[in-house]
Amino acid sequence: MNTYDRLLLENKAWAKEKVVEDPQFFERLVNVQRPEFLWIGCSDSRVPPDQITQTQPGEIFIHRNIANLVVHTDLNMLSVLQYAVEVLEVKHIIVCGHYGCGGVKAALSRHSYGIINKWLRNIKDVYRLNSAEIDALSTEDEQVNRLIELNIQSQVLNLAETSIVQTAWKRHNRPHLHGWVYDLHDGLIRTLMDMPANTPLPYPIYQFDNLV
Ligand code: CO
Repeated sequence: MNTYDRLLLENKAWAKEKVVEDPQFFERLVNVQRPEFLWIGCSDSRVPPDQITQTQPGEIFIHRNIANLVVHTDLNMLSVLQYAVEVLEVKHIIVCGHYGCGGVKAALSRHSYGIINKWLRNIKDVYRLNSAEIDALSTEDEQVNRLIELNIQSQVLNLAETSIVQTAWKRHNRPHLHGWVYDLHDGLIRTLMDMPANTPLPYPIYQFDNLV
């Protein structure tokens, strides 16, 4: 059996099990999705959003990329964000990174990795703005893990700096933004940052003053 055949076989078993547990399971999901959460997480295979939160299909709208970045020119992320905020009307956006993130570790080195350098550049910028604090830590692991935390906080601010979020804040007093970090060692999520709707931005230059 090919390795990928296992996935298809497991899928059949899963679909069957769902119907046994709840005969209307698929019928209910076919017509509508109404998730309360948008999750922006790392692509890392060890951090599956729905498994670590025990949520079901239909509960979380998910966007994943290397090192859970919110880049203001990323059309993919912006499309997900706009759809989630304006059409699905999510109440919460969670940026969830994780300790031991390979993307952040790579960004903290001076090694060239090819085209991904462009992506990691965003994390290097977070390091540059916090280099004194990070350099003061004694081990590489501590430095990487602190940059992981600062990167998550920075991505939450990047969300708050979009006109999409600011418009929804003004019109609907949502979404609430969250910065979380997952620990691969114990499977637990810790809260790093909490930004309810209409929290003033630390740098007012990013606050648009003509949104309606
Ligand atoms: Co990662």
